[in-house]
Amino acid sequence: VVLAASAVSEGMMTDETFDALTASVDPAMIVVTAVADGERAGCLVGFHTQSSIVPFRYSVWLSKANHTYRVGLRSTYFGVHFLTVGDFATAELFGTVTGDDTDKFAGLALEPGPDGVPLLRDCPHRLVGRRISVLDDGGDHVCVALEPVGTAGGGAFAPLRQSGVADLVPGHDSAERPGPPTERAGDPAR
Ligand SMILES: Cc1cc2nc3c(=O)[nH]c(=O)nc-3n(C[C@H](O)[C@H](O)[C@H](O)COP(=O)(O)O)c2cc1C
Repeated sequence: VVLAASAVSEGMMTDETFDALTASVDPAMIVVTAVADGERAGCLVGFHTQSSIVPFRYSVWLSKANHTYRVGLRSTYFGVHFLTVGDFATAELFGTVTGDDTDKFAGLALEPGPDGVPLLRDCPHRLVGRRISVLDDGGDHVCVALEPVGTAGGGAFAPLRQSGVADLVPGHDSAERPGPPTERAGDPAR
């Protein structure tokens, strides 16, 4: 796809050029974890970035379809694990399986973070963040802004990038919504 800068104006948007632009960035992949009332959650995330310098902020975007999003709404602390090229199996587990029917953490080596948020021992490049805001701008992902309260690792490593996991089929399609959305919606008699 060839993009002429001068040709970009409102109304000239195409799905193909948007996809080409975002694929060119080839973001590094992370696993975000959370826990609420003893229910552990975690998923593979490609939408994430540092979002402030002073003070430090790190933001992740969670799909409204995901178990991790629903648990995350009730969580204060989140684990953010930066995957390396050797972490494909971890990406596959957290990106293709859903916590709605499977405990992804069973059998994994874990360390408890603040409030018991599960941290993956095999993923040493990580931070723990405290949730400071949630922004739902109407899209299918919701921004969770975190204040980093702990960091580990950070030495030079080769990140696992989106191009390396392109064939994974997400455990939840981003258009999925748990149903019924409320108990009353599922029972018209109420
Ligand atoms: C390459 C790739 C990138 C993904 N990026 C995100 C993301 O940025 N945010 C998100 O919430 N889910 C993302 N997902 C989807 C979840 O990781 C996936 O649906 C997972 O199985 C959901 O698990 P859960 O229901 O236990 O939370 C991505 C999946 C893949 C394969």
